[in-house]
Amino acid sequence: MFMKMGIIVEKLAIYGGKPVRKTPLPPMFPGALFIGEEEKKELLEVLESKSLFRYYGPKLLNKTKTFEEKFSQYIGVKYTLGVTSGTAALITSLASIGVGPGDEVIVPAYCWIMDPMAVLFLRAIPIIAEIDKTLTLDPKDVENKITDRTKAIIAVHMRGFQCDMNALMKIAEKYDLALIEDVAQACGGTYKGAKLGSIGDVGAFSFQLNKVITAGEGGAVTTNDEDIYKRAAVFHDAPFYARFNIEPYPGINFRMSELTSAVLLAQLRKIDTIIERMRENKKKLLRELSKIDGIELHTPVDPEGELGLAIILFFDSFGKAKFFAKALNAENVGAWHLFDPERRDLHVYYHWDVLMRRITLTPEGCPFTCPYYGKRIRYSGDMCSKSLEILGRAVNIDVNPLLSEEDIESIVEAVEKVMNVIENT
Ligand SMILES: Cc1ncc(COP(=O)(O)O)c(C=O)c1O
Repeated sequence: MFMKMGIIVEKLAIYGGKPVRKTPLPPMFPGALFIGEEEKKELLEVLESKSLFRYYGPKLLNKTKTFEEKFSQYIGVKYTLGVTSGTAALITSLASIGVGPGDEVIVPAYCWIMDPMAVLFLRAIPIIAEIDKTLTLDPKDVENKITDRTKAIIAVHMRGFQCDMNALMKIAEKYDLALIEDVAQACGGTYKGAKLGSIGDVGAFSFQLNKVITAGEGGAVTTNDEDIYKRAAVFHDAPFYARFNIEPYPGINFRMSELTSAVLLAQLRKIDTIIERMRENKKKLLRELSKIDGIELHTPVDPEGELGLAIILFFDSFGKAKFFAKALNAENVGAWHLFDPERRDLHVYYHWDVLMRRITLTPEGCPFTCPYYGKRIRYSGDMCSKSLEILGRAVNIDVNPLLSEEDIESIVEAVEKVMNVIENT
């Protein structure tokens, strides 16, 4: 114990005090932590069938087709296409709406590096738009970024928090743009009652290991539009254009294997339980955290429908947020400062520049009519200073579905302990 301005404060672990927790919290792999007998059984069935390819085999079980049907029912769309990863889903989604060389695609300043990379893969130009305090696209800035070359907007539901879909839909309609939802981090979340991935023109999901449900790798494209579905299907399995009686398209083979679908079928049966647990744990945490002096909590656009996989705390300065995250980690409660220029971080703009310098539109990749022909596009923090300011004051605490009552108490105790110091020094 020590005294600060007349208040007795337990010594922080960061200063050599005893941490609130002896060991770290369970690792944040929601779907993976629920892998069990059901996944094993589904997988063994596929192995025993010797039919690991989705379209044929000695005794095809059609697990991929079944997964696609069940996922469509779950998300509430007409079509699902299983693919190999979230990145494959993004690239396929962009290709399915006709994004190509020189087109501009609006991408939020806070996303995953594969959002701009998927755009670049199609030789199109990612244009950064600001986020707001929802941590998702600021619709006003999206509108500011539209030019006559804009083809699409990628609405990324980061950390399970929904974008303001009504506002974005209105903008997309007004300017005749396609709206892609990146649902990689938000599978199962809803916006005003509709599942994310069923609202825009097309949804892109990831089933990589740290996602809500997982097969280690995997992805899905969802849509209600038959033409988008057909183009996505041909892009993801190029030789099969004949099946849909449409023009051949230079696609890539991104087919989901029967092994992946087998695991996902079992995971899909568990998704509601996983989400329910995260939401319950988040509710308990919010109830206690909101009583602590100085706490400012993030509010999603639709708190009922968000996934509950993270709590975001805002501070009134970058320095306080940085200190809080460091001090909380020392207490063995994992926390993550959402933007720190000293850290290499693939969620924010500045790395884009480094990576894109290698790929940006060279004369071979860009037609003569494209204004970016032969030019290097530079990205800088000035393009999204509002987003960086918000992220620099934000700290993420994961909400694991397997938190025990003791875990929850320890998170609250650790936050209170660190906040006490921040508020009183
Ligand atoms: C928001 C977002 N988009 C896209 C992806 C890409 O998914 P994958 O790693 O399956 O390619 C991820 C995954 O990490 C993600 O978090």
